[in-house]
This record gives sequence, structure tokens and C-alpha cells, in this order.
Amino acid sequence: MRGKFITLEGIDGAGKSTQLQWLAGLLEAHGIPLLITREPGGTEFGEKLRQMLLDRNQRLHPDTEALLMFAARREHLAKVIVPALEAGTWVLCDRFTDATFAYQSGGSGLAWDRIEALEQWVQQGLQPDITLCFDIAPELGRARSGRIKQPDRFEQEQDAFFSRVRQAYLRRAREHPDRMHIIDASAPVIEIQKKLEPVILSICGIKS
Ligand SMILES: Nc1ncnc2c1ncn2[C@@H]1O[C@H](COP(=O)(O)OP(=O)(O)OP(=O)(O)O)[C@@H](O)[C@H]1O
Ligand SMILES: [Mg+2]
Repeated sequence: MRGKFITLEGIDGAGKSTQLQWLAGLLEAHGIPLLITREPGGTEFGEKLRQMLLDRNQRLHPDTEALLMFAARREHLAKVIVPALEAGTWVLCDRFTDATFAYQSGGSGLAWDRIEALEQWVQQGLQPDITLCFDIAPELGRARSGRIKQPDRFEQEQDAFFSRVRQAYLRRAREHPDRMHIIDASAPVIEIQKKLEPVILSICGIKS
């Protein structure tokens, strides 16, 4: 049996990594073989690209950024994700292609259809089975991730950027209603888990 491919999405500080750890524990408790990975990254090459992509001193053209994201993704799919799924291992991935739409298009203004073209080129129809999208107001995400208080103008610009990222995630969810699940990430950690558990178990065909 092919494994399931589950991705977690949302703006910075939404709670992806927190809930990924919990979800991994839940699935493992049900005896499911699991691989945890992330994007950008997931391979040695991808992690090198991640360092370059997340380097704040490096301002790349949005096209370049998107191309590098998909280059890393191609490696990740070929060397890690697809082999694992074929071996029956489930894959939990912290961010995937929805994040490229959200950040590079929503945030940085790259045309949506250019990313769609790369998505088609690299994924050839392969999509996650389930995507959990943690939706939260940018101010709350910022407060949670404890980003150091910057001068007000910068803070506002930052919130405006994340607000566009958030809207782009919501657009992706409207375009992929069966795969993407929007979760109100402003709720306490435990509340989110209580709501998510039965949904996950049912979608994944696991008896609780
Ligand atoms: N539902 C929640 N309520 C309150 N605090 C939370 C909640 N979820 C996560 N947190 C806290 O918020 C902070 C950010 O969470 P986390 O690292 O999981 O977010 P993330 O989406 O992975 O962020 P990033 O995109 O920056 O990696 C952590 O300190 C975490 O403990
Ligand atoms: Mg994280």
C-alpha cells in the first residue's frame, strides 16, 4: 500500500512545527511508518539551497526564488518523498508547494500561473493527499514566533506581507477544497488537536 503524503502549511508562527510533532506521535501510535521532512530542504542539496534562500542578506528576483524552490523540490520528490511513499511509508512535510504560491506569489507578487507552470513541470499531477493549513492573523503569528520588535513601519510592512501570504493560502484552499483543510490556528494547541484527531483518523482510514 502506498503511503500517504501529508503537508502542513501556514504563515510563520502559525503552529505547523508544533502540530507536526503531535501528528507524528498520533500516527506512530497507530503503527504507521513515518518520514518527517521539510521544505525548502529535505535533501542535502535542498538544505544547502534552503540556507541560501533564507539568507536575509540575499535579495533574489522572485523568479529565481521560485526556480530554486522547485529545483530543491524536484530532488526532494525524486530522492526522498516518492521512494518513501512507494515503500508504504507516510510522509509528513513541513511546507510544500502551497507555500511557494503563498510566499512567492501572494507575498512577493510573482504571477500565480508561472508557479502553476513549475508545479506541473515538477510534480506532474502529484499532490499531497492531505494538507493542513493553519490559518492565523499575521499579528498573532508574529507575537508567537517572538520576532524582535522592530520599528513600527517595518512591523506594519511585515504584517502586510504576511496578510498577503495568508490570503494566497486561502485562495489555494478554495482551488483545492478536497485536499486542503483550513484550521483556525488561533485556538489553544490542545483545542486544535482535539478537533483535528478525528478528522485525521477518518481521512486516513484509521480506526480510533
Ligand atoms: N495554538 C497555539 N497557541 C499558542 N501558542 C502556540 C500555538 N501553536 C504554537 N504555538 C507556539 O507558537 C510558537 C510558534 O509555533 P511553531 O514553531 O509551531 O510555528 P510554525 O508555524 O512552525 O512557525 P515557522 O513558520 O516560523 O516555523 C511556538 O513557540 C509554539 O509553542
Ligand atoms: Mg516551523
